[in-house]
Amino acid sequence: MSVLDLGIDLGTANIIITVGKSGAILNEPTVIAFDKNTESVIAFGQEAYKMIGRAPEHIAVIKPLRDGVISNNDMAQELIRLCILKVIGKRLINPRIVMCVPSGITAVERKAVVESAVSAGARTVYLIEEPVAALLGAGEDIMKPFGRMVVDIGGGTSDIAVTSLGGIVAANSVKKAGNAFNASIQRYFEEEHRLLIGERMAEEAKISCANMFWPSEEKTGVISGRSLVSGLPARMEISEADICAAITDDVDDIIAAIRTVFEMTPPELVGDIYDHGMVLTGGGALLRGLDMYITREFGVKCFVANDPLGCVARGTHMAFRVRDRLRNGFEKASVSRL
Ligand SMILES: Nc1ncnc2c1ncn2[C@@H]1O[C@H](COP(=O)(O)OP(=O)(O)O)[C@@H](O)[C@H]1O
Ligand SMILES: [Mg+2]
Repeated sequence: MSVLDLGIDLGTANIIITVGKSGAILNEPTVIAFDKNTESVIAFGQEAYKMIGRAPEHIAVIKPLRDGVISNNDMAQELIRLCILKVIGKRLINPRIVMCVPSGITAVERKAVVESAVSAGARTVYLIEEPVAALLGAGEDIMKPFGRMVVDIGGGTSDIAVTSLGGIVAANSVKKAGNAFNASIQRYFEEEHRLLIGERMAEEAKISCANMFWPSEEKTGVISGRSLVSGLPARMEISEADICAAITDDVDDIIAAIRTVFEMTPPELVGDIYDHGMVLTGGGALLRGLDMYITREFGVKCFVANDPLGCVARGTHMAFRVRDRLRNGFEKASVSRL
């Protein structure tokens, strides 16, 4: 039976699968839709994402990895299995898989994730720590005796780590990332402007109208929802300053988490980071002006990796090449199936 090498980034917001040098071949929102009447999965990924907030009573649209932990184990397993099968297609192939799972998941959940990969035909499953994958995917050489710092801002968590010689020296994680930004934006308009908006509307506002460094007061965006005053549909013009006001507290929680990692890191490595700068990965890295906000906060250069949304996925695949050289962060989770 032939062998295929797959890299899987099981993110709380997106699941990305990479094959060989060709890069991502599957990139779907981590969402699954379940029909309670027929007790069957009716959609996953992009198709299920479109149903969020729009599904009738009997259809549950589930984000099984909400907030960096597995909130629905069965659905998480099913989603992983479906994604792997979509990639493999009808080929009789037993892939080798390097998988990156959120840092907050428990040993039991990790085992469940590995099992679902095995049930989709995986021959071997390796797990890799997210910061190691993120740095590899960002093109950083993490094998040298040199400090590297990464801040990966995903959907559920922001993970910060310092590596040297292929291993993690200090790390921290906070449950403040893309989802929390969206929730804060929803809360802000509800409290300040008595306007109830949906999660996807908040997401759009964040992407089109954020600026953490130089927020302008000019009204450049529009949001719509339901007015809490009249109970009727309403729309409102918004500015970068609105979004900045809504999410600054969350961003400052991430700043505090970065500070803790600096405090845990040996001085020699802090010096390296000072010289080299720190790298931002994950979708949250695209928040406009965040790199400069962090740079101003620490006086250390902070730069956004090339294609930050794809870093972890790229890194999982690159990890096949260096797997025997990684000191920790790469644990063999399951050996060959018979
Ligand atoms: N241009 C953007 N500006 C701000 N946030 C963004 C942007 N693009 C994507 N995001 C956010 O990035 C998050 C997803 O990042 P990702 O790294 O895929 O997360 P995960 O690894 O948890 O799946 C989402 O919360 C999304 O809202
Ligand atoms: Mg991620």
